[in-house]
Amino acid sequence: MIDHHHIDLSDDFPVDCDDPLLRQLMNRRRMLVSGMLGAFSVYALVHEARAAAPALDSRLPARQWIDRQEELAQGLRSGAVSEKSWHDEVNRLAKEVDIASLVAEIRRARVKPAGQRFMGDPIKRKIRFRDENGMPMKLAYTAATFTFDPSHVITPHGHKHMASAHMVIDGKVRVRTFDRVGEKDGALIIRPTGDHVTGPGGAAPMTTAIDNIHWFTPETQSATTFDVIISNLDPGQDAFLIQPVDPLGGEKQKDGTIIAPLMSFEASMDQYPSTK
Ligand SMILES: [Fe+2]
Repeated sequence: MIDHHHIDLSDDFPVDCDDPLLRQLMNRRRMLVSGMLGAFSVYALVHEARAAAPALDSRLPARQWIDRQEELAQGLRSGAVSEKSWHDEVNRLAKEVDIASLVAEIRRARVKPAGQRFMGDPIKRKIRFRDENGMPMKLAYTAATFTFDPSHVITPHGHKHMASAHMVIDGKVRVRTFDRVGEKDGALIIRPTGDHVTGPGGAAPMTTAIDNIHWFTPETQSATTFDVIISNLDPGQDAFLIQPVDPLGGEKQKDGTIIAPLMSFEASMDQYPSTK
């Protein structure tokens, strides 16, 4: 079993891919942009983003977003940035980023399909951004896109030794989150923390301390999230651990927590289809 919706940390990105999905995203974005900016074409916007020129509006250009994510990832790893601060900053950056310029950066990145899909997993692609000279960047985080059709789902699961943030860049996604309160006899003790539908610019960060369990289902015919993944946060431990759990089949406690049994990836897919 692969690591569900997360990705390996390999630096091997042999495939440059002019991805049809990203073309579609850009076309959709072009319609939006042309409505707002009149004579400006998306190509002008892409050119501006590539040159790291001032954004056409007040949104944060992708280059700055990538660099700020790097500072945050390094800070989280070193302990200079708390998990709470990392959540707050990631959410703020998601609201500020110019998604059109981020999509442009994804298009010029090295993009590699992330192996064989498992059951109802969304389609995963590893993203390695290029610097201003076109060279692949080495960052403290890995990046990926996850594209959903209506049958795809990221089933509820917890994590260890890592942090991640899904940000919607296209379509709408229902995000359900839970805190990890403890562990007990083959189960996680979890507390519901959120259940909402979010669109472009909405982020769902996850750390050990906050929203450690999450669950994503698409709300539109297609939806894409862009993910920042920081693994190896606990020296001497595995790079990361993904733990599917069963919140709906769990035992509700008087204090609002749920004793949610751990389950296999296969059982998780069977019990949590995209329509649930
Ligand atoms: Fe996850």
